[in-house]
Parts: sequence; structure tokens; C-alpha cells
Amino acid sequence: MSKNLHEKPFDGTTIAKLEIFEDYAQAWIPTFVMHGDLVICIFDFFAGTGYDKNGVPGSPIRVLKKLREQIAPIFQKKVKVRVFFNEFNPKKQEQLSLACNDFFKTYPEMGRAIELQIFNEDFDVCVDRLLPVIREFSSLIYLDQNGIRFLADKYLLELEKTTRTDFLYFVSSSYFWRFGDKEEFRTHVQLDMGAAKKNPYHFIHRSLINQLRTKLPVGSKLKLYPFSLKKGANIHGIIFGASHPRAVEKFLRIAWKRNETNGEANFDIDEDRQKRQLNLFEGRQLTKIESFQQRLRNEVLKGSITNNFEAFDFALDEAHLGSHAAEELRKMKREALIDYQGISPLVTYENVYQKGRRLTFKVIQK
Ligand SMILES: C[S@@+](CC[C@H](N)C(=O)[O-])C[C@H]1O[C@@H](n2cnc3c(N)ncnc32)[C@H](O)[C@@H]1O
Repeated sequence: MSKNLHEKPFDGTTIAKLEIFEDYAQAWIPTFVMHGDLVICIFDFFAGTGYDKNGVPGSPIRVLKKLREQIAPIFQKKVKVRVFFNEFNPKKQEQLSLACNDFFKTYPEMGRAIELQIFNEDFDVCVDRLLPVIREFSSLIYLDQNGIRFLADKYLLELEKTTRTDFLYFVSSSYFWRFGDKEEFRTHVQLDMGAAKKNPYHFIHRSLINQLRTKLPVGSKLKLYPFSLKKGANIHGIIFGASHPRAVEKFLRIAWKRNETNGEANFDIDEDRQKRQLNLFEGRQLTKIESFQQRLRNEVLKGSITNNFEAFDFALDEAHLGSHAAEELRKMKREALIDYQGISPLVTYENVYQKGRRLTFKVIQK
């Protein structure tokens, strides 16, 4: 667990993780810059050295690059961007400081809009120190830990209480499979390993998130989504958490762009490839998207989903895109099962949450 990551080049899975972090920063920064917040904050609590052995940027430099891309609107909107990096290992923290100083020297305009603080603390201490800032401002948080320790309830539940925080947690989920029942693990995170092991091993990250969801207070607005990352025989993964549908939609777009089949993993987690083929005995099984569309169809015909607002929320709750829902609704209209005004069923974030265009679906035939 204590292997020094930066003595080696980043591997493919690490790069995939960093790209997801980076893609989310790319979506998050302009949204909040244009939103009218006076101060926005980005935290990378396990920041590493800045670059790997081959000079490939790690999460902190990727964040700075994404900020640089938005520097003109940041100036225009007079947004103060506060960036907080933390790295526990003193040598690595020193390297990180050098890397950031270099970046700011190369792009001096950064220093006029971005306030950077770099800490050399244990996560425990650093998060306590910065919680008041996280609570006060719109915040994006990366928690790229080695292992699982900092997934403990106390951190997750603290994040749950904040209302304007989006976070991406990295977890070595397969450790749970191997050690989840051991006392040493249970002092950090308690999960029902019996329940988790009822599913095949490659679902461990998904199972983990299902259990974390049950730890959230009743009525919590926080939504958690998995993205599983297979690395050799091990399954790791990202947990995305946010309470605003805009954030959820942005993350799901990134996830579905990475994997158009399942939007949830860097491998064929639900064996959808196989499902597309006809099985002589069982016919053809539904793919992940098709089975979502089938559920949506049933809900509409049952009358539990009656408009585009409900259809969009249903899609997000099921970790699908509005376009997956829209495709099915158009099909149902063609089949004369439902009717709605116009050509598009308007199942998009813009129509539902920005323009407030409500569209009713009328069931014609059940
Ligand atoms: C997976 S690496 C993060 C890599 C980084 N995101 C990057 O892109 O280079 C985890 C980092 O957390 C640091 N770390 C380990 N324990 C820590 C702790 N208790 N508090 C803060 N940082 C810690 C490690 O030294 C390591 O650099």
C-alpha cells in the first residue's frame, strides 16, 4: 500500500483515472465560473508530486492546466479561484511545490486569478482544517488515496452535509474483497462482505457503492455513482458524489463517453457484448441500455412516469443519460403507445432544469 507511485510511470489505469478527474474539472470549472460565484475552490488532498517519472502530469498539474484554459472567463467574471493541494510525504510535497512554481512562472497570468496553497499534512488534519472552506464555497474535491482508509464514514458523512461539493474518490475496491472482514479494515470502513460476495468479484466496486448509499441519512440529496477500473486482476474505482443534477449529468456524460456500452467501467462489466448475440435457448438478453429502456417503458405505461421531468430524474437515478430515455420515448410514440407534443420528448438537463419546459406523456395504449 505504501509503494511510492511516482518512482514509476503512470500505468494505463492510472491514466484513465486521471483523465476522468481531468474531464470532470473541465466540465466543472466553466460551469461555476459562469454561474456567478465570487469564489470557487478545488481541493486535491492526495496530490502526489505533480508529474510521473516520464513527465506525465498528475492530478494537480491537470487541474492547473484546466484552470489555465478558462483563465479569460475567470478574469472576465472576476472569480477568485482558490486551489488547495495536500501531500503527506515531505519529499513529494517538495517536488509538487517545485512543479507548481514552475507552472505559475511559465504562465504568470495564473498567479493573478488563482490562489494556490500547498499543505504537507495527514489527510485527517488537512481536511479538518479546510472543512470550513469546503462548507462555505462551491467546491470540487479529489480524494486520490492509496487503498481504502479514507473512505471511512466520518469523511463521507461530512461531505454529505455540504451542499455545493462535488467529489471524486478513488478506492482500491478489491482490497475489500480480500481483507474486508479483517479487524484492521473494519476499523476504517465497515461493509457487509457476505452481501458483497454474493455478487461476482468484478462487481465489487459497484457493491461497495450500493452499501455506501445505505449509510447516507434518509432523504439525503447526495448521489453516488461508480466507475470501475480494472487493473490486471484487481478492480479499483472512482466514486463520484454530488447532490445537484447538473453535476450528476456532467459526470454521467463523461462516464458514458468513456464507455458507450455501460457508462460504468473500463471493461465490459455486464458482459453486454455477449448479450448482443442471440442465445439459442434464451433468445437475446437485453443490454444495459436496453434493460434501462425497458424499465422506463414499464414506468411510463404504468403511469409512474408522466412527463419529461420525471423521465430525466429517472434516467439520472439509474445512472443513464437523458438521451437513452429520449430514444425509448420516441420509439413508444412511433409505436402509438404514448403521445406528446412536438418531435422531441425534451429529456435533457437544459429543458428540465434550465428552461423548465414541462412536457406531458399521454398513454394511448398499455
Ligand atoms: C494515489 S497517489 C495520488 C496521486 C496523484 N493524484 C497524482 O496524480 O499524482 C496518493 C498520494 O497520497 C499520499 N498520501 C499517502 N497517505 C497520505 C495521507 N495520510 N495524507 C495525505 N497524503 C497521503 C501518497 O504519498 C501519494 O502521493
